[in-house]
Amino acid sequence: MSKLNCQIFLSGNGSNLKNIIQKVDSGFLQNIHIHTVITDNPGAEGLRYAHERNISTKIISDVYGYEDISLDIKKYNIDLIVLAGFMKILPKYFVEHHDGKIINLHPSLLPKHRGLDTHKRVIQSGDSLHGASVHFVTEKLDEGPVFIQGVIEVKESDTVSSLKKSVHNIEYQILPIAMRWFSEQLIEKNGKYFNFRGVLEKEPIRYL
Ligand code: GAR
Repeated sequence: MSKLNCQIFLSGNGSNLKNIIQKVDSGFLQNIHIHTVITDNPGAEGLRYAHERNISTKIISDVYGYEDISLDIKKYNIDLIVLAGFMKILPKYFVEHHDGKIINLHPSLLPKHRGLDTHKRVIQSGDSLHGASVHFVTEKLDEGPVFIQGVIEVKESDTVSSLKKSVHNIEYQILPIAMRWFSEQLIEKNGKYFNFRGVLEKEPIRYL
C-alpha cells in the first residue's frame, strides 16, 4: 500500500505532532508520510519537532497564503490535511476545495463546546463527561461530521489544567487512530455523515 501524504497544521505546542511522529516511528502509522508542517505562528513551539526530523515547514503569511498551500497540495499529491492544534479558521473556498481531505482535532465531545476554552466550559456546565473529537472540516466552525471521540469522566476535583492533561492523553490515542483509518482507506466523508468500512454512519465511533 502506498503511503498517505499528510500536511499537519498547528499553532502552538505541537504535542500532538510529537505524538504523531512517535506513532510513525513505532510503526502504528507506518503508512503515513508527514510531508509538511504548516503554521500561522512563526513562534510555534511545535515547529521544533518538525525541524528535528527535517520535515519541511511553511509559515502562512502574505507571501505564502492559502492559494499557495492549495497549489502545493496539488503539486505534492497531499492526501490528508490534519489540523492538530490549529487555532485559525480556514477560508471557505479552501475548505470547499479540499472537502473530505481536512480533519480537525477538537478538545470536547462535539457538538458540545464548539470554539475555545472548552475545559473551562465543561467545569462551568457541570458536565460529567468530557473528551476529544476528530471531525471532517466544513465551512462552519467545529460542525463537520465527527467520526471518532475519546471520552473521559470529569471528577469533582478536576481543574482546567487537569482536564487539559487528560484530554491531551485521549487525543494522543484518537488522532493516530483517525489517521490510520485514512491510511487504510476505512473512512471517508459522506455529506453530513461519514462512511466507515463502506457503511454510512451518523454517530461518532466512541473510544474508551
Ligand atoms: C489540542 O488539545 C487540540 O484539541 C486543541 O489545541 C490543542 C493543541 O495541543 N485544538 C483546538 O482547540 C482547535 N480548536 P498541542 O499543540 O499540544 O498539540
